[in-house]
Amino acid sequence: MAVAGKNGGARRGCFITLEGGEGAGKSTQARMLAERLSLRGLECVTTREPGGSPHAEELRAVLLSGAVASLGPMAEALLFAAARVDHLDHTIRPALARGAYVICDRFADSTRAYQGALGNIDPRLILALEAVTVGATRPDLTLMLDLPAEVGLARARARRGGGATDRFESEGVEFHRGLRSSFLDIAAGEPSRCFVIDASGTPAGIAESIWVVVERRLLAPRPPGGSFKSTAAKPADGRRDDVRQDPQNQQDPQERVKA
Ligand SMILES: Nc1ncnc2c1ncn2[C@@H]1O[C@H](COP(=O)(O)OP(=O)(O)OP(=O)(O)O)[C@@H](O)[C@H]1O
Ligand SMILES: [Mg+2]
Repeated sequence: MAVAGKNGGARRGCFITLEGGEGAGKSTQARMLAERLSLRGLECVTTREPGGSPHAEELRAVLLSGAVASLGPMAEALLFAAARVDHLDHTIRPALARGAYVICDRFADSTRAYQGALGNIDPRLILALEAVTVGATRPDLTLMLDLPAEVGLARARARRGGGATDRFESEGVEFHRGLRSSFLDIAAGEPSRCFVIDASGTPAGIAESIWVVVERRLLAPRPPGGSFKSTAAKPADGRRDDVRQDPQNQQDPQERVKA
């Protein structure tokens, strides 16, 4: 049964986000996961932030050009929030309402890390913005792709070839080390939603690690005595607490999936 979400629309699908530093492999893994879910006959929508809807993509171009950086982290955070509202309304919520798996390459945790922890914006403001933009449309599962900042930057550099760095890639290595620890802090604080994936292996190995987590957390039937995910009652805000609150679904903060 679909349940109306607080911020518009019924919600039946599943919302997966990929987070992590530059070049961690988020876009690569988002594609691979969508392919694998599609092979199961599940509808998948692959999207990204900033962007993910026509208007938000326009804002992405401005944000990643660095044009907004001179206005300060607050203005930048507000523009990210504006892009997110459009993305949620025009891409994510409609897809979830029709039962699709939405796989989003970066989402609210990137705002917490980039603009919050490293942009020196009061975390209470970041969380307040998140509450009004994301509302009940919180991810069911967040995959934190973790690897040393230098490795990710080298991958991003190789991908770029001789092209120009974007707004964030051009920050120093200390910034990127800080990002890594912010993402790990977020994961440690929300172990029922977040899962840290060792992203230093091969793409195929990482995809396999991700698949183990997705199968266990989102696709597998409930343990004996429990009900199946597809028939479990969902709370009024549309969150899939059948997934989140099962202690067996929680990662030990020390545990990392090896690719
Ligand atoms: N496991 C891997 N090992 C080595 N190279 C990889 C791996 N995964 C992805 N790559 C390559 O590294 C580069 C960055 O990968 P990708 O674009 O998927 O990362 P990203 O996390 O989306 O980066 P960004 O934050 O810049 O968007 C690409 O050229 C990709 O082909
Ligand atoms: Mg990417």
